[in-house]
Amino acid sequence: MPDIGRLRKRGNQEIVYDLTALALIGVYIWVFLWIAPAFQHVTRPLDAYSARMNAFGTCAFLLLTVILSIGPLVRLDPRFAPLLYNRRHLGVMTAAVAATHADAALDWYFSFSPYDRFEMLLRGNTSFQQVHGFPFELFGIFAFSVLVLLAATSHDFWLRFLTPRVWKTLHMLLYAAYASVVAHIALGALQAAANPLLAIVVLACATTVATLHIFASRRRAETAAIVGAWLDAGPVDAIAEDHGIVVTPPKGEAIAIFRHAGRLSAVTNLCAHQNGPLGEGRVVDGCITCPWHGYQYRLEDGCAPPPFTEKLATYRLRIAEGRVQVDPVANPPGTLVEPVTIP
Ligand code: HEM
Ligand code: FES
Repeated sequence: MPDIGRLRKRGNQEIVYDLTALALIGVYIWVFLWIAPAFQHVTRPLDAYSARMNAFGTCAFLLLTVILSIGPLVRLDPRFAPLLYNRRHLGVMTAAVAATHADAALDWYFSFSPYDRFEMLLRGNTSFQQVHGFPFELFGIFAFSVLVLLAATSHDFWLRFLTPRVWKTLHMLLYAAYASVVAHIALGALQAAANPLLAIVVLACATTVATLHIFASRRRAETAAIVGAWLDAGPVDAIAEDHGIVVTPPKGEAIAIFRHAGRLSAVTNLCAHQNGPLGEGRVVDGCITCPWHGYQYRLEDGCAPPPFTEKLATYRLRIAEGRVQVDPVANPPGTLVEPVTIP
């Protein structure tokens, strides 16, 4: 059962997470601004504005790479789960770092004209027909707008107000933002780069994000076979005690099936908090426990234990010849389905 001690522990974990992330960002910026200049070539010294812009720009890009890698990493290896605890705060920090980068860029690139610097940013360059000199800032503006939108709606109030489904769909914009940042760098900084390091880092990051997503989606792609109106979910023995498996019907949401105390229960795979993958969680204290932020649900009716009020859709199960079968028609959230006893 979730108790005050567990909630407090989660709060402590979040503080440690935030402090660690802030410390790492601080060290990165410090090394970039105070240590790296000692190694730069005397013929190519970097002015303070450009150094600030590069430090915060690359930091925001690396943070975005980490944020997008966490989901597939956890899917591939649950030991990365602690990285998920406070991913939202990491997103807010990324927006703040990107804002500092954009501010430095505006200070340096667009402040020496008699016109307003925002006007120059938006209208100063119209070379859309050529690669070299393309107004690459527009890609940065789009990415930055997405970061600000997601940071502004990151509080639980917006999650409830927009519903988890809309909220999660909104977060898909992060992929468009990432692609936009890659275009921003490729058409901007890389056009004039004398040193290949930035190109290598950007390529390595983008390849890592893409590869992790491909491997993680392959792992989830197993679609269950249909037996009459029931789905075959594999042998009973394949489900370890207090763990779950995930079956994906040809239509509709994935279903998580758990084994606990010699009985099986099934609920939707989507956590009512932020659509976390419940099937990758465990049964703790008799409740399904989400691997993302620890929300808990009872096995028999998918309800969060009091005082919490979240409810999950449940599913009917049966066992035939040692194999688990699930009725893919979801029951309304909170419907009691007696767990099936393993013979
Ligand atoms: C309002 C939004 C933005 C503006 C106006 C802006 C502007 C700029 C400018 C003027 C440059 C210099 C390009 C050059 O050296 O030729 C630059 C580089 C860069 N930007 Fe942005 N940017 C914005 C948003 C972003 C965002 C959201 C990110 C990442 C999440 C980002 C990451 C970078 C990186 C990594 C570089 C290359 C830095 C380097 O040369 O080491 N930018 N940006
Ligand atoms: S998604 Fe946050 S607890 Fe499940």
